[in-house]
Amino acid sequence: MSYGLLRGKKGLITGVLDERSIAWHVARRAHEEGASLVLTNAPVALRLGQTAELAKRLSAPLFPADLTQISDIEKLYAQTLDHFGGPIDFLLHSVGMSPNIRKGKAYPELDYEFYWKTLDVSAVSLHKLLQIGRARGAFARGASIVALSYIAAQRVFPRYGDMSDAKALLESIARLFGYFLGRELGARVNIVSQSPTPTTAGTGIAGFQEMYDYANRMSPLGNASAEACADFIVALFSDLTRAITMQTIYHDGGFSMMGIAEDLLRNG
Ligand SMILES: NC(=O)c1ccc[n+]([C@@H]2O[C@H](COP(=O)([O-])OP(=O)(O)OC[C@H]3O[C@@H](n4cnc5c(N)ncnc54)[C@H](O)[C@@H]3O)[C@@H](O)[C@H]2O)c1
Repeated sequence: MSYGLLRGKKGLITGVLDERSIAWHVARRAHEEGASLVLTNAPVALRLGQTAELAKRLSAPLFPADLTQISDIEKLYAQTLDHFGGPIDFLLHSVGMSPNIRKGKAYPELDYEFYWKTLDVSAVSLHKLLQIGRARGAFARGASIVALSYIAAQRVFPRYGDMSDAKALLESIARLFGYFLGRELGARVNIVSQSPTPTTAGTGIAGFQEMYDYANRMSPLGNASAEACADFIVALFSDLTRAITMQTIYHDGGFSMMGIAEDLLRNG
């Protein structure tokens, strides 16, 4: 169902890899709600994934950018502003990757080159997008920026490894940049902390299925789906949430508030 929540708004969506991606669902829902979109992903993802397919379906231009590279981000904003003929009303940061996790390196045995890469791709990329976007006048007054996190930023999930540190940094960047963009532009920066979700990034974590099942049983509402996440993010992009900023908001079926669930106690 469409409520026309984003009618007339223009947005930039990162991180659409395939139809499981959280960003895929956000782009689809934002389009349904009346927004015009630009999609972007890293060049390697554009070769392997289905980003072009969705871009075509949504009549959205697709501009390649590695979000660790300043020059790519500069070019991305130039192309996006040129396409829209003005600044954007919303931005989704939906990007994450850990070479340590990919190579099976546990937290006490990190490779430090990989560690910097994890932080750069998964967290500093948000700072780069905000810093360069601000300098280029890419954000409209009252713009809404959303990035995705996981509760391992606050609590210990051993197999989430160095991504836990990246998410803690990401949340801090959103909070602090939210101050500056709020004062200057009335713009908002928020984090959605999402349930385990079966995507390429999600299932790349060792023991994903066990983490998924555990969270599902702990949460009174069960795990939040990618579709529900997209609905919530669309609400955050809309004017209905114009006074919310600098928050980490848990979109997790209640998991973050739980201590123990009776079901787990009884059935192990
Ligand atoms: N899946 C989960 O369980 C879960 C839970 C909470 C939060 N998140 C977060 O949601 C976000 C989206 O992940 P997803 O689960 O949809 O998985 P996904 O694999 O579909 O998306 C990750 C995206 O990051 C992109 N990316 C990686 N390196 C990049 C770079 N250098 N430049 C530009 N893009 C790059 C990939 O191409 C991909 O499109 C991530 O921040 C992830 O950490 C996921």
